[in-house]
Amino acid sequence: MAYKIAIIVGSLREGSLNRKVARSICALRGDNLDCSMIEIGDLPLYNQDYDALPQQPEPYVRFRKQVGAADGILFVSPEYNRGIPGVLKNAIDVGSRPYGASVWDRKPAAIVTASPGSIGGFGSNHQIRQACVFLNMPVMQQPEAYLGHVTDDSFDDSGCLKEGPLKELVTKLAHAFHDWVEMIHRSRQLIAEDAAHASKAPKVEREHA
Ligand SMILES: Cc1cc2nc3c(=O)[nH]c(=O)nc-3n(C[C@H](O)[C@H](O)[C@H](O)COP(=O)(O)O)c2cc1C
Repeated sequence: MAYKIAIIVGSLREGSLNRKVARSICALRGDNLDCSMIEIGDLPLYNQDYDALPQQPEPYVRFRKQVGAADGILFVSPEYNRGIPGVLKNAIDVGSRPYGASVWDRKPAAIVTASPGSIGGFGSNHQIRQACVFLNMPVMQQPEAYLGHVTDDSFDDSGCLKEGPLKELVTKLAHAFHDWVEMIHRSRQLIAEDAAHASKAPKVEREHA
């Protein structure tokens, strides 16, 4: 079955390399991952005072609804100054509140970072991962995706990755992410079915010796 994947790109740049990587992942696993890119550039900076308002800012409502409806989350982001770009951190914070109503909770996730630099956004990748720990998101462990030396030249005219080691890694990643999302959802489903079955089974009275 095709899982609904919300892709959150940590760059607002029109020609973003990370956005192109995200599109390539969708194309590589199109039949099994139903991907949508979720807009984050219009989210007002998070302010905890909003939580008490009867009416939340409209972009917050839209964003939380889109993330809430997803079966899995794919973060694809650059690294800014060895950390998470502010726009992505803001989106993560917006989705995490009001307290107790986080839309991230239990969503399977994967993290991809891409950069023209050689360490492929390692710092940003692990800061996103750190937030996911607190947000109770099971994050795919392998393959890790610190995509270094990514430039416009890594893509063909249609914006897809050219053949080569980068495309091979991204293909592996797209397949692994599908399997990860499936494993989490199928195992939860089986546990729920077992629990329903157990609750219907006749209770065996214990005989007292
Ligand atoms: C404010 C800023 C900070 C950056 N810091 C880093 C960094 O820490 N590490 C890195 O590899 N690249 C860094 N870069 C370069 C980005 O990796 C590069 O601009 C990349 O293309 C941005 O991603 P995008 O193409 O998806 O927009 C930085 C770029 C900007 C604009």
